[in-house]
Amino acid sequence: MTTQQRCPVDHGYQPFDMTDPFPSYAALRAEEPVMYDERIDYWVVTRYDDIKQVFDDWETFSSENAQAPVRERGVQAKKIMEEGGFTAYSGLSARIPPDHTRIRAIVQRAFTPRRYKALEPTIRENVVRLTEAMIGGEQPGDALASIAYHVPTITILTLIGADLDMVDTYKRWSDSRAAMTWGDLTDEEQIPHAHNLVEYWQECQRLVAEAHETNPDSLVGDLVRAQSEGAEITDHEIASVCYSLLFAGHETTTTLIANSLRVLLSHPEAWQALAEDPSLIPGAIDEILRYSPSIVAWRRKALVDAQIGGVDIPKGANILLVMGSANRDESRFEDPDSFQISRPNAREHLAFGYGIHYCLGNMLAKLQTKVALEEIGRIAPDLALAPGAEIDFADNLSFRVPLSVPVTWKERVDA
Ligand code: HEM
Repeated sequence: MTTQQRCPVDHGYQPFDMTDPFPSYAALRAEEPVMYDERIDYWVVTRYDDIKQVFDDWETFSSENAQAPVRERGVQAKKIMEEGGFTAYSGLSARIPPDHTRIRAIVQRAFTPRRYKALEPTIRENVVRLTEAMIGGEQPGDALASIAYHVPTITILTLIGADLDMVDTYKRWSDSRAAMTWGDLTDEEQIPHAHNLVEYWQECQRLVAEAHETNPDSLVGDLVRAQSEGAEITDHEIASVCYSLLFAGHETTTTLIANSLRVLLSHPEAWQALAEDPSLIPGAIDEILRYSPSIVAWRRKALVDAQIGGVDIPKGANILLVMGSANRDESRFEDPDSFQISRPNAREHLAFGYGIHYCLGNMLAKLQTKVALEEIGRIAPDLALAPGAEIDFADNLSFRVPLSVPVTWKERVDA
């Protein structure tokens, strides 16, 4: 194939339908592993080796389209955003070298394990408090709404130095960001989200201005101090980093904690094994990331005429790397559709991407999920998926987000 062609068969792939995309990924890997999909104007890449090669070759395949709206913004949404002074740009993921290299080095210095290790006791307290509240309530409970929604959001607000009373507000803004960038919204549907993005960006700018005044002991404080000590980063770039982290820092981890419970409870023998031996939890988390990643697809752009898996890709083409498919590629993972908490090479998953943009928050995400599984397994080892539970997933090109995790438990009798 040398030019963009209309795809004759779509192999069952529906770009925005996240219900159960895995059979269509398998069909694509087998039948057309590099497929041009005119519905979204993306080349859809589904084999592990091809995806890793594209991630690795940032000089040929740039991430500059990683945060571009998949559906063009409507006239009214554009007007609302322009009038609201919305000029946010990706903090890191859609930046390219040399800007990406410069900003990443500065953020990485502020984003130290020391900062988030210090958060571990707070994470634990939050999980315990929320789990006890859930099992003290009505059955069935929703582990997503009761636990997974809050824990990473409180963590990232604490780390950044944002207002802890704003959990629901940041969740609303983040939902808007996910829908406006990776969703399939009509012009009319975009309007409330456009207002939310304006508010969100104004708050990020306010955080930076405030940090200049108050010199807080937080990540924004660290970035502002670095700037005053000569680091080459502007206020707009710091606000953009906040705009990224205040989304990336909880959205995907809420999903990871929810998916951990959803997948483990649908494999009760695995849940039981972790409750009995928590040292198995870190390996299990990698298997969850492989089996059911929070982000199933991420984007790149070809800067020159190139080839992927022997297929010619024209300069300027948009590329969708389907990590949800790479993680189930039979050439890399034996019996890929089975869930095995002790799978020896689970860590080779591509759920956090690969190469120069490799997820900056991967250790924080894993730490929070580990603490959540340790504490929930200790407090409620008899947790089970509610009988007949049907879990829906929001429509999206990249984020595979369960909408609930309905659970039951044995009633506690107070001693
Ligand atoms: C389960 C949780 C998470 C998943 C699945 C995830 C996934 C990803 C993916 C796929 C990328 C793009 C990588 C690439 O282009 O090669 C990424 C980048 C990034 N992630 Fe995460 N992430 C998670 C949690 C977090 C957290 C907790 C934070 C921050 C506190 C974070 C911050 C970032 C940042 C800043 C980038 C951009 C890095 C760069 O471009 O240099 N992520 N993440």
